[in-house]
Amino acid sequence: MIVCHCNAVSEQTIVDEIVAGADSVAEVGARCAAGTTCGGCIPRIEALLALADEVVA
Ligand code: FES
Repeated sequence: MIVCHCNAVSEQTIVDEIVAGADSVAEVGARCAAGTTCGGCIPRIEALLALADEVVA
């Protein structure tokens, strides 16, 4: 499923970057460009980051 339509970044790619150590919207953006254009997908990226926090907590 595509999360960031501006940059064609899938949910899986974002999750992979979070697992690899990205711990903020800015860091995810730096790694795969998600959220760096219109910003419309940032709430979804934040939700994935929050989910990852819960999983590792
Ligand atoms: S949908 Fe992700 S930056 Fe526009």
